[in-house]
Amino acid sequence: MCGISGVAGLTDVSHILLASIKSLEYRGYDSCGMAILAQRRIEIRKDVGTVDEVIQRQRLYEVHGLLGIAHTRWATHGGVTSVNAHPHRSSDGAFAVVHNGIISNYRQLRGELEELGYVFSSETDSEVIPHLLHFYYRREQDVERALQCCLARLEGSYAFALLTTHEPERLYCAKLQSPLILGIGSNQNFIGSDFNAFIAYTRSAVVLDDHEYAVLTNDSYRIINALTSLPIRKNLMHIAWDPEQAQKGGYPHYMLKEVFEQPQTVSKVLAIERGELEKLARSLFDAGRAYFIGAGTTYYAALFGQYQLAELAQLFVPAISSDEFKFGALVDAETLVVAISQSGETYDTLEALRFAREHGAHTAAIVNVQGSSMTRLVDQVIMQGSGPEICVVSTKSALAQMLILTRLALVAGLLRGTLSAVQYDEREAELRLLPAVIQRILNEKSGFINTIARRHCHVNDWLYLGRGIYYAVAMESALKMKEVAYLHAEGMPGGFLKHGTLALIGEGVNTIVFTPPRAQRELHDLSLGSTEEVKARGGYLIGIHFDAEPSLYQDQVQLPEMPAILGPFAQLVVGQLLAYFAATALKRNVDKPRSLAKSVTVA
Ligand code: F6R
Repeated sequence: MCGISGVAGLTDVSHILLASIKSLEYRGYDSCGMAILAQRRIEIRKDVGTVDEVIQRQRLYEVHGLLGIAHTRWATHGGVTSVNAHPHRSSDGAFAVVHNGIISNYRQLRGELEELGYVFSSETDSEVIPHLLHFYYRREQDVERALQCCLARLEGSYAFALLTTHEPERLYCAKLQSPLILGIGSNQNFIGSDFNAFIAYTRSAVVLDDHEYAVLTNDSYRIINALTSLPIRKNLMHIAWDPEQAQKGGYPHYMLKEVFEQPQTVSKVLAIERGELEKLARSLFDAGRAYFIGAGTTYYAALFGQYQLAELAQLFVPAISSDEFKFGALVDAETLVVAISQSGETYDTLEALRFAREHGAHTAAIVNVQGSSMTRLVDQVIMQGSGPEICVVSTKSALAQMLILTRLALVAGLLRGTLSAVQYDEREAELRLLPAVIQRILNEKSGFINTIARRHCHVNDWLYLGRGIYYAVAMESALKMKEVAYLHAEGMPGGFLKHGTLALIGEGVNTIVFTPPRAQRELHDLSLGSTEEVKARGGYLIGIHFDAEPSLYQDQVQLPEMPAILGPFAQLVVGQLLAYFAATALKRNVDKPRSLAKSVTVA
């Protein structure tokens, strides 16, 4: 969702602020702006477009000062216009605000303020905040009191930062349900929607919780509970990520960099202590019923987990899309809900967890971002350690989650006795081959996959077929194609095809079949059956396979022989590369696809 940042410094902060919103651009990129306070005056510049476009067009680099806030937007309320871009100001120009989230009672507040004579210039919900601040400041003659009164009126979700001419050394910020973090530096302090706002300047952070606000200067900060007005002491957190990891490092896109980082991502997952997985496995055994939940890609990771747990541990842990959870699941005090999330901030997943907790359920999560809301909400966390994922679409993080779930299934299988110690050791040893296997695919198959992608990128409709766990791989690979190449790609189980979708097969529809290794005899043969069905109707077939009969396909990616447990991961990498190369051939905005944003923090 939107990215917000703020800096209070001893020297000019404008270049830091610009670098900061550039680093947050993956959270939203339809418009951006900044407000700088200098000589008791706030200068705001904003416009539609990417951060670079707005910097150039509005010459943001010309504005200087010691205190500033900035915003990169993903529109929710109000179209993508310069007026709707943030920061928003109060009518007298004394308050400027950047906001992420949705003020759910903004219509009512706007009505009240308009009756009092306030004039709104934008269509956004956010603009009520500076006007409310102005209103309460006139009454209280104190900025902090005005902020407290304002917070008492706001409903919905917000993370906002503000500066005011009434207190030219201070930045204020407040949080409810949208993420907000302080960065504590030397002679400069920061506000950010996430670590990337300031990781280049400091790795010390304080994570704000709901109903907290903070007051920052360049050399101090304090945090206050907005409900009690009492100060709060919080521990500094050291951010484990290396700032270098958040750079493109010579790759044309973050997506490609992150796909190529996967051998290291896998090694990180393999280093997760078995004890951590055992703890989660035992929670699964103790639960009367358990679910995996996730959204988009992480739902497919959850589905992957469902198949692994069923096969390796003979445990049924259904996957449910977080947004449907409260309508489709049964939850009580005997339930365990295991959420999967890269950001740890996804609204739908957090809501599902809150719902589960309200019904007494036990909760756990597999998360990438340290200190995120989800890590603090659940009873049990496994950190995936994948490092920053900057591209809006998830690649390395998804692969890491699927691998964690595979290791969880192995541990669960061992504890339940569905796997012998020897079988467990063998499977774990096979997983240790995965970094080298992925490296080999990246080295040897990328060029080839690029050729296939270029040859077919003008085909608008795609079917992605998989059986068993390869069904999850097919779904996730199809999502990648939709997201980055903007091509219509529909994933489905191979067996589903004959129940209707077969009618689509013909000219103009390409079918990709994710065929398992021959060692998985039943799945392998069923996949060939689906392939034959498409072939018989004259469909164009692209096979991703290990050892199938090449004559079945018009195009194919043949993968090296490998243990069956590695097959889905290898095919996932092919799916990622296919989407990436199709997107680059079509000149798509790979790292920031249209209409998308990393970390969807609204309903
Ligand atoms: C797809 C993608 C999204 C996210 C989803 C959940 O490439 O990135 O589908 O997977 O929005 O996000 P997290 O994992 O942050 O909870």
